[in-house]
Amino acid sequence: MALDLDSPQEARRVLDALPGLRWAKVGPMLLLAGGWDLVAELKGRGIRVFLDLKWHDIPHAVAGAVAAAARLGVDLVTVHALGGEEMVRAAVAARGKTRVAGVTVLTSHSAASLAAALGRPTVELAGEVERLARMLLAAGVDAVVTSPEEIGVVRSVAGPDTWIVVPGIRPPFAEVGDQRRTATPEAAVAAGATHLVVGRPIVRAKDPRKVYQGLCDAIG
Ligand code: C5P
Repeated sequence: MALDLDSPQEARRVLDALPGLRWAKVGPMLLLAGGWDLVAELKGRGIRVFLDLKWHDIPHAVAGAVAAAARLGVDLVTVHALGGEEMVRAAVAARGKTRVAGVTVLTSHSAASLAAALGRPTVELAGEVERLARMLLAAGVDAVVTSPEEIGVVRSVAGPDTWIVVPGIRPPFAEVGDQRRTATPEAAVAAGATHLVVGRPIVRAKDPRKVYQGLCDAIG
């Protein structure tokens, strides 16, 4: 679950409602609002920490960040594929027992918005994700992050042990918001996702426990 909340109090309210939660994803929003103490509190609650800071920097800086996260006991971190193969290799070499996930193309991108960002007339999203996934896997990542639309493409180039982490999950009742490539939890699991990332549909729900339980039931 993505704890994209702007205060530790809000995060605790959601966490208290979800006693069986196994993973929490912490991004810059909550890290800066709650500090490292809140992340340590997650570990104290027996929850695995997915630190999603999507590092994209020079290899030395990213390796240092990954090593620091590993020392703090973080379970999973993210790096951006667009940081390049040397950066991803440096992250993998520094990871210790922490897993490294490589982000391919953000779920909030459409083909048109990615083409605009890259300054190209068009891009073929699945081809772009496949190219980046091959590079990430060659560099040794443990997991690939992609939208529901490219799960099959990623699995076709990944071994059976690679995690495929999929944001952009929207149950039918949920608002799409800024996401552009989305699917229901059932569809994402059927396509081969190993880990789903769900934020606003749970944390903004009136009854987060009910939505979380519904999602768990839907994917068995
Ligand atoms: O609220 P929502 O369910 O859209 O949250 C999705 C989460 O997944 C956000 O925390 C976002 O940072 C993250 N994410 C994403 N697309 C990616 C990688 C991560 O939406 N490609």
